[in-house]
Amino acid sequence: MTVIDRQQLEPVQGTYNLSNYQEAYESFTWDSISQHFSWQQTGLVNMAYECIDRHVEDGFGDKIALHYVNGDEEVKYSFREVQEKTNHLATVLKHHGIKKGDFVFIFLPKHPDCYFAMIAAIKLGAIAGPLFEAFMEEAVRDRIADCEGKYIITDADLLQRVPKQELPSLEKIFITEGKQSFEEGVISLEDEMEKIPAKGKILEWVDLEHGLNIHYTSGSTGKPKGIIHAHRAMIHQYQTGKWVLDIKEDDVYWCTAHPGWVTGTVYGIFAPWLNRATIVVNGGRFDAKEWYKTLESTKVSVWYSAPTAYRMLMAEGENLQKQYDLSAVRHMLSVGEPLNPEVIYWGMDTIGKRIHDTWWMTETGAQLIVNLPSAPIKPGSMGRPFPGIEIAILDDNGDKLPAGTIGHLAIQTPWPGLMREVWKNKEKYQSYFPFNGWYVSGDLAIQDEDGYVFFQGRSDDMINSSGERIGPFEVESKLIEHPAVAEAGVIGKPDPLRGEIVKAFIILRKGFEATDDLLDEIRKFVKTRLAAHAAPREIEIVSELPKTKISGKILRRELKARELQKLQK
Ligand code: PRX
Repeated sequence: MTVIDRQQLEPVQGTYNLSNYQEAYESFTWDSISQHFSWQQTGLVNMAYECIDRHVEDGFGDKIALHYVNGDEEVKYSFREVQEKTNHLATVLKHHGIKKGDFVFIFLPKHPDCYFAMIAAIKLGAIAGPLFEAFMEEAVRDRIADCEGKYIITDADLLQRVPKQELPSLEKIFITEGKQSFEEGVISLEDEMEKIPAKGKILEWVDLEHGLNIHYTSGSTGKPKGIIHAHRAMIHQYQTGKWVLDIKEDDVYWCTAHPGWVTGTVYGIFAPWLNRATIVVNGGRFDAKEWYKTLESTKVSVWYSAPTAYRMLMAEGENLQKQYDLSAVRHMLSVGEPLNPEVIYWGMDTIGKRIHDTWWMTETGAQLIVNLPSAPIKPGSMGRPFPGIEIAILDDNGDKLPAGTIGHLAIQTPWPGLMREVWKNKEKYQSYFPFNGWYVSGDLAIQDEDGYVFFQGRSDDMINSSGERIGPFEVESKLIEHPAVAEAGVIGKPDPLRGEIVKAFIILRKGFEATDDLLDEIRKFVKTRLAAHAAPREIEIVSELPKTKISGKILRRELKARELQKLQK
């Protein structure tokens, strides 16, 4: 039996795309990475071309691009098939008026159509806005309304959650499956694809700064903000796919996130396809058996998931895992929330692999702090800065702090993945750059003498539950829409499985009694109107809430401090 060094996990000897971190870090330039792309010579830029068409032109048309599994259903598509499908879909969308710079929202489950819609929209130079399939009406409405979106691609089920009447900007709704006659403004893509033949040359060239995708993300104030990325992000995404995901020609790669979350788009579509990998798309929600079955049947070799999912698998126990052959897995990665050392040890003890933590944010466009397969891992650390990325731990005045000191995790600007803008919110965009030349993440961290970075929490009230970013303001606003709720304060409460859970403190209106039924109803109110992950798992009735003296803002920090104290008792 191998004895695991619990302090530092050395890499397994092997051939990796990046074998020497230090050397690469010292000599790296982003310009050298741009050489990989034909636009260096031609000036013709489009992410969709680099993900799909290019590989067909290079002679890899028959290689499997997408392997879809959902229960017993299984379908594979080659790069050529994806090219044909997305050209055809783009032809239809163009016929319906979609053009460069338009927002196209994509509200679909984890299904090949979702991936095809993303690529087709990008082929037209549109800005793809994937929406998480569990979003309820108001989450969908807020996002489309913010961009005055004219187009959405969805299916007949999710259509029920698109509040058309409240979205005057929405001109056309496309349904991916089914030919039944829909109401006015709702178009069956199946019908249209039969009527309108595909055009071979449909792809629109753009420039590197052109809008690529929009992801709405929460902070501690206000509604979610639309973060827009540019096509230039491909430079960063390609290279992290190569070195961090370590994708090689024969790899089968599975990122478990839905494209509605930035990981599901950047590392579920762009980075692996830029590296010509076969991607696995698993249709269902989390289910330990299904996940193990997927790993076994599709022979996943590179697997990118999140700590909560790993903890859920860990909780299922080894007996279940032993029923499956996971020997194809050679590289495991994690993102989105702190990866506890216990989970890394579980990975080593049961699957025999290290789990490589990575850190980044929606706004950063790609991974910035990483663990590489060729480098030692310090359990509890998110890793070291990716080559080309300079980080610092800053104090409140923007001065650099020495190793071993907690402070604001900041990144020197610019880098290719960095967001292009926050939609219609220059002030918010500027707020990320309070000190000249630095992007300040909102995370608190410590960097040690060897350059390894250790996450210490957030400097604001943002909640991270199962890796999903939840803004307390959004939940509080929804809670007080309920007739029984007078005031609400929402925090993240530490949770062994989910990292944090949403906990709400509420003051009831006069005449309402704190019964279990009422609390249940309030919880469902948030769940069905906003999103399941945002609904408070715990609600505590209080008679008053701590507030700032001058502006009367709820002091969430104090609520959190009280909660932490209770947990320690
Ligand atoms: O607090 C950090 C946490 O997730 C935030 C970013 O969330 P989001 O924009 O939804 O992007 C998630 C996936 C890219 C960060 O500010 N976070 C992300 N990765 C880690 C993490 N916290 C601890 N460890 C990580 N590896």
